[in-house]
Amino acid sequence: MCGIVGYVGKNQAAPILLDGLAKLEYRGYDSAGIANIVDGKIEINKAKGKLAVLSDLVDGGSKIDSTIGIGHTRWATHGKPSDENSHPHMAEGGKFAIVHNGIIENYIELKANLVASGVQFKSETDSEVVAHLLEKHYEGDLLAAVKKTVEHLEGSYALGIVCTDYPDRFVAVRRSSPLIVGISDEGNFVASDIPAILAYTRKIYHLNDGDIVDLYADSVKIYDSELNPVMKQVEVVTWDVKAAEKGGYDCFMHKEIEEQPRALHDTISPRIDEQGKIVLDGVNLTKEDIEKCDKIYIVACGSAYHVGIVGKYTIEKLTRKPVEVDLASEFRYRDPIVNENTLMIIISQSGETADTLAALKEGKRMGARILSIVNVVGSSIANESDDVLYTWAGPEIAVATTKAYSTQLSMIYLIALYMADKLGMISEEELRSNLSALLDVPNLVEEIIKKNDPIVRELAEKYKEIDHAYYLGRNLDYAVAMEASLKLKEVSYVHSEAYAAGELKHGTISLIEQDTLVVALASCSKVLEKTLSNIEEVKSRGALVLTLTSEGNTAVESVSDHVIYLPKTKEMFMPSLEVVPMQMLGYYMAIARGCDVDKPRNLAKSVTVE
Ligand code: AGP
Repeated sequence: MCGIVGYVGKNQAAPILLDGLAKLEYRGYDSAGIANIVDGKIEINKAKGKLAVLSDLVDGGSKIDSTIGIGHTRWATHGKPSDENSHPHMAEGGKFAIVHNGIIENYIELKANLVASGVQFKSETDSEVVAHLLEKHYEGDLLAAVKKTVEHLEGSYALGIVCTDYPDRFVAVRRSSPLIVGISDEGNFVASDIPAILAYTRKIYHLNDGDIVDLYADSVKIYDSELNPVMKQVEVVTWDVKAAEKGGYDCFMHKEIEEQPRALHDTISPRIDEQGKIVLDGVNLTKEDIEKCDKIYIVACGSAYHVGIVGKYTIEKLTRKPVEVDLASEFRYRDPIVNENTLMIIISQSGETADTLAALKEGKRMGARILSIVNVVGSSIANESDDVLYTWAGPEIAVATTKAYSTQLSMIYLIALYMADKLGMISEEELRSNLSALLDVPNLVEEIIKKNDPIVRELAEKYKEIDHAYYLGRNLDYAVAMEASLKLKEVSYVHSEAYAAGELKHGTISLIEQDTLVVALASCSKVLEKTLSNIEEVKSRGALVLTLTSEGNTAVESVSDHVIYLPKTKEMFMPSLEVVPMQMLGYYMAIARGCDVDKPRNLAKSVTVE
């Protein structure tokens, strides 16, 4: 998705903007641009393609003599990737330039009105209307023009705006698209995400929907949508700068896979106190609240949705409360049955996924209580929720999620156990033994990574020419199969599908032929025999079978070409172990096939459009 950076301060702006945009590359983009005020005029430099193209065009920004500017990386939605459609966009008179992340949903109508009044558009984007509207509404007061302009906009937007009448200030606006403010003695910033400014400051403000920010070199003023001043608490980012850098790894996905033991430990251990009780900070769910709840929806997209499937199996088993898992893009338009006795669990790494945010708002409107599991502190989903549980995964940069998925899983286990405990459905002893096993998961993950790294790398070399893969599993193994399949396809571009193992013979088995890769997840003891039969069914049709199972399940060997044994833990936590070699398989396959692991084609890290 698009990325925005803005700076005004004591230093040359262009190199800071380019550096910030480089830190936002992980979001996915197809063109980049910057606007600076130079000698009272707006100078725009923009280009289709990688940031390096823009950087070369402006010699790394060294020749742009300006201490103010806005920058943008564009992920095309309206209009193809091209120089013209790249941001910033300028108003006809040259007084305003803007950068925009999000979608102006009513741009067709706005554009038609502007065109009717004689405005000529230079791009096919929805964003350009903002520049022309600013010019139309400007009567000498910049903030008043911004307020009037955004009153006409429907949809989502984070905006950066420069105006030649004010070469010492720029304005930013946030509505349903991520934007943070950074402050420092050397100048002030806005950015779509913290890594963009972390090299310059750790002091930030989180913005609310509708906030308008007025930035000068030595001050920042924040207003609500009515231009009433808003007081904000400065927050200090505690991450290590290195957390947002590759730190010697070939790519972020690899680094983030290996960070999982730390991320899991940081997420799990503070939630278990010395008395062996679960402490869910930021959650105010009482026994009565849980008793009152007659239905739970888990709503999310992509990998976070796959966490939801694990959540369904786990929460239903432990609490006997019915759980429905919905894709956010379906939930929001399907007229779900929600009322004030509904608990909605929203899962999102970024906290900005447009469909998930919209589903949350829809559930809230219908009376549901919203409990979210989010990684990005202060994100829109966190702000909109009644209760928030943060996963302490740290910044996740690779498009393919690994450590965020794993920490989300651990939060789901904690929620399930917390609810079961409150409802009196689990004994003290059982709870204690489950929590002790959960606390051990980070160590087991570390062991799995160490032991399997060379094994999975070699398997990837063997499999690298395949065109298709099928992932099978039953019960929790099926939930992990979905994530495993997504991990492979999104980074290595191998077509893959996940099936409930018992379902394959209802159609898909016709695709199995000599040497079709089948990855079988076979850890659930209750259905192990059944899964074994399903593996046999594909093996006897020529499939090449890689099986993942718990230590001791040697019966799988007779039907498998390769077996990866995982250490034993409580079955409920097996997904946390199984997913790790599967992430590694996706990663090593992508490397073996020469793919751009961190930035897979057509994908964006944070999907802030519908
Ligand atoms: C998975 O690797 C993807 N990056 C994607 O499916 C992701 O999980 C999905 O877009 C949801 O994102 P979120 O967690 O930020 O809401």
